[in-house]
Amino acid sequence: MVKRVFLTVVCLLTVLLPAVAQSYTGTMTLEEKSSCVVGLRRKDFPAPTNNGIPGRTAHLPAYGIPSLVMADGTSGIRLSRKGEERSTAFPSSTSIASSWDQAIAREVGDAVGREALHYGVNIMLAPGMNIIRNPLCGRSFEYYSEDPLMSGKMAAGYVNGLQQLGVAACIKHFICNNQETNRTHVDTRVSERALREIYLRGYQICISDSDPWAAMSSYNSLNGIPVQENRRLLTDILRGELGFGGVLMTDWGLVPHNTVAQIHAGNDLLMPGLPEQKEQIKDGVRNGLLPEEDLDAACSRVMKLSNKCRILPSGTVGLDLQADALVSRKAACEGAVLLRNEGMLPLAEGGSAALFGVRSYDLIPTGDGCAYVPCAYVSQISEAFKSGGVQIDRQLEELYLKYVDFADADMEYNEKGKNRLALGKPVIPELDITRSFIGKVAKKNDYAVVTLGRSSVEGTDRRLKDDFSLSEIEKNLIKNVCEAFHAEGKKVVVVMNTADVVEMASWKDLPDAILNIWLPGQEGGAAAYELLLGQVSPSGRMTVSIPVDYFDLPSAMVFPYDGPSEGGNYDYTDYSESIYVGYRYFSTKDIRVCYPFGYGLSYTSFDYSALKVKASKSKVSVSVTVTNSGLTEGKEAVGIYVSAPSGGMDKPSEELKAFAKTGTLAPGQSETLRMEIPASYLASFNEKTGRWETARGQYILKVGADVTNPRLTAKFKK
Ligand code: BGC
Repeated sequence: MVKRVFLTVVCLLTVLLPAVAQSYTGTMTLEEKSSCVVGLRRKDFPAPTNNGIPGRTAHLPAYGIPSLVMADGTSGIRLSRKGEERSTAFPSSTSIASSWDQAIAREVGDAVGREALHYGVNIMLAPGMNIIRNPLCGRSFEYYSEDPLMSGKMAAGYVNGLQQLGVAACIKHFICNNQETNRTHVDTRVSERALREIYLRGYQICISDSDPWAAMSSYNSLNGIPVQENRRLLTDILRGELGFGGVLMTDWGLVPHNTVAQIHAGNDLLMPGLPEQKEQIKDGVRNGLLPEEDLDAACSRVMKLSNKCRILPSGTVGLDLQADALVSRKAACEGAVLLRNEGMLPLAEGGSAALFGVRSYDLIPTGDGCAYVPCAYVSQISEAFKSGGVQIDRQLEELYLKYVDFADADMEYNEKGKNRLALGKPVIPELDITRSFIGKVAKKNDYAVVTLGRSSVEGTDRRLKDDFSLSEIEKNLIKNVCEAFHAEGKKVVVVMNTADVVEMASWKDLPDAILNIWLPGQEGGAAAYELLLGQVSPSGRMTVSIPVDYFDLPSAMVFPYDGPSEGGNYDYTDYSESIYVGYRYFSTKDIRVCYPFGYGLSYTSFDYSALKVKASKSKVSVSVTVTNSGLTEGKEAVGIYVSAPSGGMDKPSEELKAFAKTGTLAPGQSETLRMEIPASYLASFNEKTGRWETARGQYILKVGADVTNPRLTAKFKK
């Protein structure tokens, strides 16, 4: 009975609140309306607001509108760097996506949501869901994949986890914000087809699967028009075609923009908010440049959002950092990708290990900029080995720890006054160790671990030299360690603690094993240990391709790979590769890659059987049985790639249309995975007709996680 009354009240509120919001705007003054849509100045933030908080909305008590609190970011809650408060650092978005498991993204969203409630945060400025068009993009670690389906599904998992707790997600950065160089002004030039099939599709999937309550319009221009002033994009496409029903806020535009055009285009909140924007809005309405109904629509959407959010004073909900650390560790394990294993892993318990590389002792948990998270600790690989009972080489440990202390102090000293620490902490270069010392260490220890590190930061793109490519010191370290240990008949594993991919073709055959743990969050060291020792069998798969050479990438030349300089790739960037992003290009053009999209090894093996495909008008239903055919337990991620019939429009040779992951399967155990491909996912956008078209004829469906290695195939007709 009580439950029925409660549900009736909830239903009535759902129906009535929009109407209430609408009627409020009728009684609001122009001054109040303009306050409602412009963020609060930092100096007007009510105390106590943690100074890591980047924005708040205005408090309008007469209308029951609270001041909504926003927090970054994509790896957990960013709070002040200097304060006492702590939050959990989760793995980067690329790592989470590499789990190929939407449930992991959801669990992380749920844990972030609980911490958000604790800190009184109402809107998380996450997830980041730009397409990883080029691995040098400085924020690609904040994004999920080169593939829009993967990106949209993972984002939806996170959004659902967060919003079920009453915390809004804000999907960002809409749209085609795929480089950091000149990010506020670059004009992205992209074809209508690529825009729709690659860049908008992930948003469309996320919106239909999770109804995000907020989105962020990006700084850049698209085909000559600033995104934030483009009504066709923000209102006709985002709201009209993609069905977005939430609040659209601008990215933190400290660059002068046309305020009136921004509201008219469909933005509901101008962030972080400047007093002059309110004046511009009022003037715009008074002199007829801004239709008042645009402002009313924006205000009522802000009101609706505040009705949906769970508003609680900070501290009301408890903080369980220990529980969230376990979620972080689980996600780090699921997202790690085993790239190579020539009979080395899993390692035996105990024994002695030589840990090389600064990052074996000073792991990079997250990227920097607004993805920074003030976590309580970072679990180190070295510490995890020691507590697991492995004897690590003491001399090496001492050497690296001293070097890390020295390098940290030196960096801080040299960077003073240059304001470089504002967005990111400079990363310590690798230590040059002599061959003779490595030779001595090789004699004393059973095996070696070399950890490679790469951080990345908002506002800057990565470089080719000493970043995408390994530095000479790093190359020598891998080569010398491998030579010395192999000469002793001992093995070497490289652990990659990298924000995005690096060049690997020139060295990947040297070590016996390679484990990619990405930026794994604060539990990274423990997660790496569990994976290396086989306490968890790796089950992550790449969601980006690793090219043999940077210049094999379709976007290589149309990306600012050699740093900022005026002209192409700075003032504008032509997305001349069109829809051929990532594996869509490599597999269509048959270009060899270092590791393909979907690649990842396990400690066990899996058989695929009983593939069933049924195509109806509205969808294609697929089921496949996966059996653990090896000797240890493990999970298998499965991708469904579809090749369209030839003739008609050009199409990639195959595209990911669905994916799923098994639970943990014991040896001999099977699971049948069922997936559905909505018919609309098969359509391509015809620029000539301005319509989505589905090719008629025979489709080929390939099953298998790695795009280059189908395990089973089937055909269906459309
Ligand atoms: C970033 C956004 C972030 C915002 C608030 C901007 O510079 O691009 O991703 O959410 O700042 O910190």
